[in-house]
Amino acid sequence: MQEKLANLEQKKQEALLGGGAKRIESQHKKGKLTARERLEVLLDSNSFEEIGMLVTHRSTNFGLENEKYLGDGVVTGYGKINGRLVYVFSQDFTVMGGSLAEAHAQKICKIMDLSMKNGAPLIGLNDSGGARIQEGVVSLGGYADIFYKNVQASGVVPQLSAIMGPCAGGAVYSPALTDFIVMVENTSYMFVTGPNVVKTVTHEEVSSEDLGGASAHSTKSGVTHLTAENDVAALKVIRQMLSYMPQNCEETPARLPYEAGNERREGLNGIIPANPNQPYDIKEVISAVVDEESWLEVHKDYAENIVVGFARLAGRSIGIVANQPAFLAGVLDIKSSNKAARFVRFCDAFNIPLLVLEDVPGFLPGTDQEWNGIISNGAKLLYAFSEATVPRVTVITRKAYGGAYDVMNSKHIGADMNFAWPSAEIAVMGAKGAAEIIFKKEIAEAADKDVKWKEKEAEYATLFANPYSAAERGYVDEVIEPAVTREKLIRAFEMLENKVEKMPRKKHGNIPL
Ligand code: HXC
Repeated sequence: MQEKLANLEQKKQEALLGGGAKRIESQHKKGKLTARERLEVLLDSNSFEEIGMLVTHRSTNFGLENEKYLGDGVVTGYGKINGRLVYVFSQDFTVMGGSLAEAHAQKICKIMDLSMKNGAPLIGLNDSGGARIQEGVVSLGGYADIFYKNVQASGVVPQLSAIMGPCAGGAVYSPALTDFIVMVENTSYMFVTGPNVVKTVTHEEVSSEDLGGASAHSTKSGVTHLTAENDVAALKVIRQMLSYMPQNCEETPARLPYEAGNERREGLNGIIPANPNQPYDIKEVISAVVDEESWLEVHKDYAENIVVGFARLAGRSIGIVANQPAFLAGVLDIKSSNKAARFVRFCDAFNIPLLVLEDVPGFLPGTDQEWNGIISNGAKLLYAFSEATVPRVTVITRKAYGGAYDVMNSKHIGADMNFAWPSAEIAVMGAKGAAEIIFKKEIAEAADKDVKWKEKEAEYATLFANPYSAAERGYVDEVIEPAVTREKLIRAFEMLENKVEKMPRKKHGNIPL
């Protein structure tokens, strides 16, 4: 037995060494942690249990019979984050560049199955040169097996991906199918076709970083939801994100203990500028309303005219969608509609109540928006809110104009509670534009056109640039002093805690993709 135990120990040591000390050193030189070091940072200490440590590949082509590594380039298993079960895989770049082969894929699929059966989140730490070239089609099959399971798991358990090195070719589609992506700045990149192919096909010269680095995907494509300055920061943010989420779609997020105090926030009474066209930062409203230090913004640098993220209200996890008047006047456009729609659907899938802060002048006009499909893209947000059955509360802080009023979680599309500040303007459009259209003739015939226009603008504003017409009809449940917003929201979400709403029976809806 002693001999057998020694043999086992030797195998374990071999597996722990991955591709060897030299390759580990090279990984460190690039500023990266190894696959196992990452798991140590990600998981609660001593909680990791490895599955499939002794798996190796079976391929013998191109000298692979001599190049076998225990684990086959990916460390898989389960562990805990903040005391809660998670399943993880961590690709090991020191073993054949973390390339994905048949056995490697099977290991990942095994923990994906476990994650779905046992209802716990799945976290993928990606660092791979892509399909293992020596293995051919079985690598491609392995990818497709993973994609298929990503889709099956979608909406069942939260799936989070960290990109911590290369992620190229079809390999990008597994993270893309997960709920959130975090990319490490300067050491990771994602692209479907790399700089060489781009140069051949389009004659563009571009570096890997410019084409698919964290900065490109956080600002231009929106593929990544968060970026982190290094591996440790990326893993910590994943831990933080999970704290807002339940383990699976059958559960609600854990509630943190909360002691009620003075919930008035006087600062909110002075936040709306006197001039309705002057911007202010909606994030100041968010910070004033949510529990201290609980705000985690997602997609911070992408489509900044809408702000989305997680927070807590009296210890309850909520998702926030807020127009940002400080960026493009908070207008809705293609990117912001997509960004918000995806976030709303995630929250709804995982029972996270939604708070909407609304100050929106409408949809962005122009050929660029129309030709690129603001109609179908704007409809995504409308669809996402309309189908969401989680508790939904809206606060209209200022403008709620036109179709955007309907889209931004209006009462008509199923919001549960709608509040408005006295500064709210709920109308088909701004008073100036409205006066120009409906009083066109009177203005044209007036001796002083400007005076007439201003007079008619004031007339329209008196009637509609306020929350009272909407409140009279019950479209707004209450007009509130801004300072009491936090208190009102705490009570509203508490009241809605046991909300049950079912959609009509169907196979699935057909969101306008
Ligand atoms: C097998 C691979 C590999 C791969 C890297 N390696 N990628 N082995 N299959 N796909 C090996 C290298 O041979 C090397 O082995 C070790 O990993 C480290 O790689 P280096 O090139 O030394 O590292 P680095 O300079 O950091 O460059 C990393 C890299 C580069 C940019 C990722 O390795 C690279 O371009 N690899 C190929 C990428 C690729 O074309 N993959 C296929 C994409 S198609 P030694 O023994 O020398 O240390 C694809 C389709 C998926 O993935 C489709 C799904 C539907």
